[in-house]
Amino acid sequence: MDYKKEIVFLNGQYIGREKAWISPDDRGFVFSDGVYEVLSSYNGKVFEAWRHIQRLDGSLSGLNISGFDPADILEISERLIDANNLASLDSIIYIQVTRGAAPRSHAVDQAVMTPTVYACVKRFLRPLRKQKEGVGVILLDDERWARCNIKSVSLLPNILAKQKAADSGHEEAVLVRDGVITEGSASSFAAVFSGTLTTHPESNRILGSITRSVVIDLCKSAGIEVEERPIKKEELAYAEEMMIMSTTKEILPVTAYDSVIVSDGRPGKVTMRLQALLNDYIDDNCSKKA
Ligand SMILES: Cc1ncc(COP(=O)(O)O)c(C=O)c1O
Repeated sequence: MDYKKEIVFLNGQYIGREKAWISPDDRGFVFSDGVYEVLSSYNGKVFEAWRHIQRLDGSLSGLNISGFDPADILEISERLIDANNLASLDSIIYIQVTRGAAPRSHAVDQAVMTPTVYACVKRFLRPLRKQKEGVGVILLDDERWARCNIKSVSLLPNILAKQKAADSGHEEAVLVRDGVITEGSASSFAAVFSGTLTTHPESNRILGSITRSVVIDLCKSAGIEVEERPIKKEELAYAEEMMIMSTTKEILPVTAYDSVIVSDGRPGKVTMRLQALLNDYIDDNCSKKA
């Protein structure tokens, strides 16, 4: 996509990126006082928009930010896809809603705030090679706050963890809190024990990942057992398979963590089956004809 011709959304308008300016008093800039969503589209069709709308609704109400209807993200995404000539391609849509701009003060009068809403789209090149070959991760302490179910733009612990992973040649940092695996710095995590997909239950300790929810639903309809329970770090030694999941990664097999090889070091059967089921589900819901 030609960066100079890119159209973005800012506060109700579709404009060239070079015209998109926000106030230095925006609380998103000053305090990370905002939330975001990342959606995918395949063949120009937005994937599982309703799940993203519900999650954004929860994030906004969790921070008491009002004045933006989360249901609008579908139309914003579709118009951005069209405006940027991505209707026949796959893309990733980023949407951020902050509490808005006000003179710097920790507390504000909510009644006078108007949220800042920004969105952009870029081409999505699915990570097919990593999906086939698998990736390595490192385990790090989970240093995030106690409301990880809110998709807040305040991502400092996440980006520091991800940087450590990247600097040591790993795809992701998988986080450990109180001896339990929570999720990746920007992905959810699951392991397979005796053929059962096992993943941390939804709580304030993890983000309600859209990919994780879709995968759990796919397991249920395909007869793959699912257990949502905390996985102790020591249990990883007995896992048959591990995977990380997100909108931009889809499902990546984890073939090694720290220096430990998972099973035979190759993507496992359950992981590959879930990848195939997810591909079919995407085709069914976002084919050119759908
Ligand atoms: C902390 C965290 N967990 C999980 C996920 C995966 O969520 P989703 O499947 O909705 O992309 C993300 C995505 O960015 C994330 O940042």
